[in-house]
Amino acid sequence: MSDRRPYPPGPAMGPLKAYRARRKDILGMLTSVAADHPRVAHLRVLNESVYLVSDPDLVHEALVVRSRSVRKGSGFERAIPFLGEGLFTNDGEVHKRHRRALQPAFHRARIAEYGQLMIDIARGLPWHDGEQVDVAESMGRLTLSVATQALFGSDIDDADVIEAREALHEFVSIFQRLGSPHVALLLRMPTPLRRRFEASRIRFDTVLNRLVEQRRAALTDDFLSMLLQSGMTDSEIFDEVRTFVPASHETTANALTWTLWLLDQHPEVRERLHREVDALPGLPEADDMPRLHYTRAVIAESMRLYPPIYVIGRRAQEDLTVDGWPIAAGARLITSPWVTHRDPRWWGDDALEYRPGRWLDDAGEFSQDRPGQPRMAYFPFGMGPRVCIGEGFAWMETILVVATIARQWRTQVLNEVKPLPGPMLRTDGPVQALIHSRTAERRAPDAGSLTAPGR
Ligand code: HEM
Repeated sequence: MSDRRPYPPGPAMGPLKAYRARRKDILGMLTSVAADHPRVAHLRVLNESVYLVSDPDLVHEALVVRSRSVRKGSGFERAIPFLGEGLFTNDGEVHKRHRRALQPAFHRARIAEYGQLMIDIARGLPWHDGEQVDVAESMGRLTLSVATQALFGSDIDDADVIEAREALHEFVSIFQRLGSPHVALLLRMPTPLRRRFEASRIRFDTVLNRLVEQRRAALTDDFLSMLLQSGMTDSEIFDEVRTFVPASHETTANALTWTLWLLDQHPEVRERLHREVDALPGLPEADDMPRLHYTRAVIAESMRLYPPIYVIGRRAQEDLTVDGWPIAAGARLITSPWVTHRDPRWWGDDALEYRPGRWLDDAGEFSQDRPGQPRMAYFPFGMGPRVCIGEGFAWMETILVVATIARQWRTQVLNEVKPLPGPMLRTDGPVQALIHSRTAERRAPDAGSLTAPGR
């Protein structure tokens, strides 16, 4: 029986062609579909009905207003055997209970305690003047150190932290491949990938058991101690730990990598950033955060153009309407920061330009509303009940790391870089860069106004 439901217009392509187009160039496909259908578009991809929702009001409707009628999309279903049922993957009442239990760990005052840790790790970057490094790899290592030390504390036995970190690293490298449906299939069959996955899971659970027992004996102020006091069962705690590392480490590493690459492409932005951090009395400290307006703008603008999570999907749990169109239970709703963040209707004719200055008001202070876009046109951390719980943590980490690097180093990127959309928006390979120490250049500063108009 044919489905007589009215659909919003969409691209004229069959389900198989749409599937191929998505696999070949998902960013290009999303952009062109949204350009032709700027509010909501319908397309069939294989046997699924997919609605691409691009207008900020409708994004709000999909992620906030209709949040009770939708659940996480299929990417997350695929992640469950891997991550367990942590906050990232679970739904409904379980999600609400876990979110409530975890929320205190992310309060501003708690997060502030991690500031020094982030600064210490950024200052300890093993870079040397004149050497060549892969910036993407460096940022991956840095954010993994921040995540594991915030989680387990820094007083724990080094061998255990290294063991946990290595097991999680293996986990994360499999997670990075989850964007492909084949990986989900391979993980269900007795394949070498499945064996690697099981081995890393057993390895991780063994060391985590040991760490949990140590922490139970002597609670401190790390994230694991907080989980142990939250009333969750051990298996729920394990699932949260598995979630925490990929959720916090990959996303932040990508945000940092894109930022360093963009700074390299825009010397005038980098100079202005240098003026801000050079005006501090010494290396950036956690207390300097409120003064680092341009640094925050640099990062906000990077996540506008290169949002680490470029698609936020939902599946309708029941029949609902969006923009007046009836949507059947089971259909997929897709919102895309990549699309909405680059739309000239909200960001002006220079929407595709990297211009951190758009986020500063007349006093040179960062303002979320300054670009003049509708509020819902910027959502790198999602919105509604599933908004990123680590948003404050991520702002603090990216601001402190970028400020610390900018004060000490100048990176000169040597190779071409393009976005590679997988589960997250990564670079398509290493970002090789020559590292220059800024010590000498800071001795002869080029005075300039921080609030001077410009990018
Ligand atoms: C620049 C860095 C980050 C970005 C761009 C980012 C982005 C996001 C987005 C878009 C979501 C919502 C996904 C959805 O609605 O389907 C999310 C959820 C989440 N993020 Fe982040 N994130 C970042 C850093 C972090 C950090 C540092 C942590 C932990 C410390 C974290 C933990 C989580 C968790 C646990 C969720 C699930 C929340 C829930 O469903 O209730 N993220 N993140």
